[in-house]
Amino acid sequence: MEKSNPIVGIQLARNGERPLYSQLAQALKELIIKGELSSGSKIPPIRQLAGILGVNNSTVVQALEVLSREGLIYKHVGRGTFVAPSSRSQPPVEGGGHVYDFSSLAPATELFPVLDFKKALNRALDYYGGEALNYQPHLGYRPLREKMAALLGQEGISVSPERIMVISGSQQGIDISAKVLLEQGETVFLEEPTYPGSLLTFQGRGVRIINIPIRQSGLDFVELEKRLADFRPRLLFVMTRLQNPTGYSYTPEQKAHLLQLAYKYNFYILEDDYLSALDYRDYRSTDPPLKAMDRWDRVILLKSFSKVLMPGLRLGFVILPEGLQEDFLGAKYAADISSSGLMQRAFSFFLQDDSWEEHLKTIRREFRSRYQLVKKFLKEQSPLLYFWDPEGGLFFWVRLNRGGWSEDLAVLLRRRGVDIAPGSAFFAGKRQTPWFRLSFATGSKKDLERGLDLLKDGLQELQTGQDLDRIPQEEPEKRLF
Ligand SMILES: Cc1ncc(COP(=O)(O)O)c(C=O)c1O
Repeated sequence: MEKSNPIVGIQLARNGERPLYSQLAQALKELIIKGELSSGSKIPPIRQLAGILGVNNSTVVQALEVLSREGLIYKHVGRGTFVAPSSRSQPPVEGGGHVYDFSSLAPATELFPVLDFKKALNRALDYYGGEALNYQPHLGYRPLREKMAALLGQEGISVSPERIMVISGSQQGIDISAKVLLEQGETVFLEEPTYPGSLLTFQGRGVRIINIPIRQSGLDFVELEKRLADFRPRLLFVMTRLQNPTGYSYTPEQKAHLLQLAYKYNFYILEDDYLSALDYRDYRSTDPPLKAMDRWDRVILLKSFSKVLMPGLRLGFVILPEGLQEDFLGAKYAADISSSGLMQRAFSFFLQDDSWEEHLKTIRREFRSRYQLVKKFLKEQSPLLYFWDPEGGLFFWVRLNRGGWSEDLAVLLRRRGVDIAPGSAFFAGKRQTPWFRLSFATGSKKDLERGLDLLKDGLQELQTGQDLDRIPQEEPEKRLF
């Protein structure tokens, strides 16, 4: 190694205050950031580096792991370890800053029916005056609950408005249900992977969480039955349509099976139907939510208007199970007393004319076309990427098919102005997975296209930079998470 190599000048403090590997990682990082170790330059082999610095090989390995996770270096099989291209040497992002957020499920604000909603808001204020801004009944504004009951009727669910409670979004529904149904130490079953907001809620309740894997053919019923017999849970949380993050939709047979199990083992099912209006197969009439098949009142259905209208409304509703209405009302009161009276009234007016149906048509058209665009991209990236086709919704569940972790890809992409949702966010205890969720909900279609270009570049970089032997290569269908 040449004397001029800046690595030679690295000084490590041996007073035990900070681990040597962490100091080494920091020192190498500084050299890379200052440009003293330029992109593409080779890092000396582990033993040589350990010899120069007077540390163990394992210290060097750990330090390089840190840098690799941060996307600062990459391994090339058979050739060694190199400094990754720096953000400065990458093509500048047009207009600077952030290009596209593939991690977000917030719908594109350009699609919000602002003018129609403004009219509805004005009508609510003109008609109700201060009453719209007062405290509201905890159950919610009755005309809106009547409209919800009518909408549910179209999905084969017959329910009285008295059993419908307006909530401030699905997340609140999960939170309230957890408070009503789960005492500390009780057991909840979750799909794995699952929606991170539900993990936050259930972990915060101090309950025992049992994860049941979702395979490409759906929930693992063999595992479910085994665990049901062992753990006797009080609640199972599921997204039966367009599951977040896999996009999986349960078949009618799976739903019937789930209901039989709920009856047999006496647990409630919390069904989060947050996205079903965006099913591009439009099989709603033949594929209703689980609740439509629920003869034993085991299902607590949540609906949200965040994805199909606007998340800022903070509106959704829950169908309350018999005998638990008072408990749910109490939990709602404790959470926020009631959802906004003004928003409930404005939404009720909005539903009254053609605006709602028009809006649904618009977003289905737009998101279907984005879905097709991203699907085409993903097919083009095969065999680099492997994905599950949700046939609806706002995202794909994608796997790095040639090795590598999505968490590394996320770091690498962030430097290009692009975000993805790494798979670990959807598991209770995983730090790395080859899976990630790729959403196309947010921003403009033009930005989405630019984001896909950058994603393609990032994938190439990851492929050249990864030690592809790091994770096993298996047939996609056989892979578990
Ligand atoms: C499955 C699922 N449930 C609930 C929520 C939260 O929705 P809301 O805005 O209705 O609270 C989200 C948000 O992404 C979600 O993906």
